[in-house]
Amino acid sequence: MAKPAQRNDVRPARAVRHSFTLTDNETGESWEFPTLHGTMGPKVIDTRKLYSQAGVFTYDPGFASTASCSSAITYIDGDAGVLLHRGYAIDDLAKNTDYMDVCYLLLHGELPSPEEKSEFDININRHTMLHEQLVRFYSGFVRSAHPMAIMVGIVGALSAFYHDSTDITDPMQRMIAAHRLIAKMPTIGAYAYKYSLGQPFPYPNNNLSYSENVLRLMFSAPTDEYEVNPVLARAMNSILILHADHEQNASTSTVRLAGSSAANPFACVAAGIASLWGPAHGGANEAVLNMLHEIGTKDRVAKYIRKAQDPEDNFRLMGFGHRVYKNYDPRAEVLRKTCHEVLEELGIHDPTLDLAMELEEIALNDDYFKEKKLYPNVDFYSGIILRALGFPTNMFTVLFAIGRTVGWIAHWKEMMEAPESRIGRPRQLYVGSKKREFTSVANREHTDRKISWSWLWGGKKTAD
Ligand code: ACO
Repeated sequence: MAKPAQRNDVRPARAVRHSFTLTDNETGESWEFPTLHGTMGPKVIDTRKLYSQAGVFTYDPGFASTASCSSAITYIDGDAGVLLHRGYAIDDLAKNTDYMDVCYLLLHGELPSPEEKSEFDININRHTMLHEQLVRFYSGFVRSAHPMAIMVGIVGALSAFYHDSTDITDPMQRMIAAHRLIAKMPTIGAYAYKYSLGQPFPYPNNNLSYSENVLRLMFSAPTDEYEVNPVLARAMNSILILHADHEQNASTSTVRLAGSSAANPFACVAAGIASLWGPAHGGANEAVLNMLHEIGTKDRVAKYIRKAQDPEDNFRLMGFGHRVYKNYDPRAEVLRKTCHEVLEELGIHDPTLDLAMELEEIALNDDYFKEKKLYPNVDFYSGIILRALGFPTNMFTVLFAIGRTVGWIAHWKEMMEAPESRIGRPRQLYVGSKKREFTSVANREHTDRKISWSWLWGGKKTAD
C-alpha cells in the first residue's frame, strides 16, 4: 500500500500583543492573558495559565464561550450561516463533488489529485467487508434492538479485531484505522437494518460509489437485481456530505475527549456514536418525524407552536435551533432542495412535507422564533428525505453516523498530530458538602426518607 499523504494542516494559533486583563475586585490584583487569533472567527483568550497564576477556574457549562482546541478542519460563522470545510463552502461541495472527495479533503486538508482520488477509493474499497466473526455479533441482539445501540456495540468491537491498526503512535496505523472506519460504517449500519427485518446480509459491491453502496446494502435482496436510481444516489451523496463534519459539536468533542486518553480510534468513534444518538444532537432527525406525526394535520400546527413557546411545557420544535447557527443552517438550505428533487423523482406527494413547510413558514414568521433566532437545522429536512428513500425512522441517526464518521476520525487524527494535545480534564465548581465525619451504619440516625427500589424489578427475585 502506498504511503498516505501527510500534510501538516494545523497551523499554531498566532499569539498577538493584544491581551485581556483580569482584575479581582476584592483584592485589586490583576493578571494579563494573551489573545490568540485564528485565520477567521472571534479571537480567544488564552486562559491556560489562569489557574496557576490567578488560582481561579472559568465556569462555562455547555462550553458556549470555550474553544476546547485549535482546528484547521471546519469553520462556522453561525450569524452569517456559513459552513466551510478546509475553506470550501458546504453548498459548493454538496453540489459539485462526491463524498469520497470530501472525506479526503477532511482527512488530508486538500482536495485530492486524480491519482490521489483513485488511490483513496481503492484504499476505502479494500476495507468495506466485515470480519465474518464480527457478523456473528448481530445475532446476540434482540431483533427489536435500536440500530444505534447495535452501532455502538459493533463499532466498539472493531477494536477487538484490528490490533494491527490500534497503535495510535504510528501514522500509518492511524490512517488504516481511518480507512477501516469510513469503509465499514455503511456495512455495519445496513446489517443493523437487515437484522431487524430478518433478511440476509448482502456483501458490499466495490464497483459502486460509496453512496450507491449505502443504498444497495440497505435495500437489495438476493432475490432481485438491485438497480441504483441515480437521483436517489445523488441525494444520498448530499446527505453524507452535509453530515460529514461540523467542528466541535457534542459527538466530535466526545471523540476528542475519549481520544485524549490515548484510547484506540474504534473505541473513540463508538463513544461518538453514543453521543450522537441523543435527541438534542443527531437523534433530532428521528425526533422531527415523530413530532410531525404527533402534530398530524396543518390545523394543529399553531397549537404546537404555542407549546414550544410555553415555559411550563418542555416541548421543543425538533429540527429548530442550533447552538452555533443564529441564521438559516446552510445545510438545511441544500437539503430543502434535495428533498423536493427526491419526492418529485419518486412521485411521492408527502403530506408530512406539506406539514413541515407549514411549520417552517409559521415558525420563521413568529416573534418568539425570530427573537431567539431559531431557524431550521440540518435535521429538519433530512428525516423527510430519508423517509422518502425508504428508511424507517430509527435508521435516520445511523445514516447521520455513517456520514459523520469521517469528521470524527479527521478530528481524532488532527488531535493525535497536534503538539499541544493533553488529556482532556475539565475542572468544576464544587457545590456539595464540606468535609464531614463518617458514621458507621449502626450509629446513623433513623430518617423518614422512603426509597423503595422494588418497583424497578417488579418484585421479581432475579433481574432481566
Ligand atoms: N423550540 C422552542 N424553543 C427553543 C428551541 C426549539 N427547538 N430551541 C431553543 N429554544 C429556546 C430555549 O427554550 C431557550 O429559551 P430561553 O432563553 O427562554 O430559556 C432559548 O431558545 C435558547 O435555547 P438553549 O437550549 O439555551 O440553546 P442551546 O444552544 O443550548 O441548544 C439546541 C441548542 C439543543 C439545538 C436547541 O435549539 C434544541 O433543543 N433544538 C431542538 C433539537 C434539535 O433540533 N437538535 C438538533 C441540533 S443540530 C444537530 O445536532 C445536528
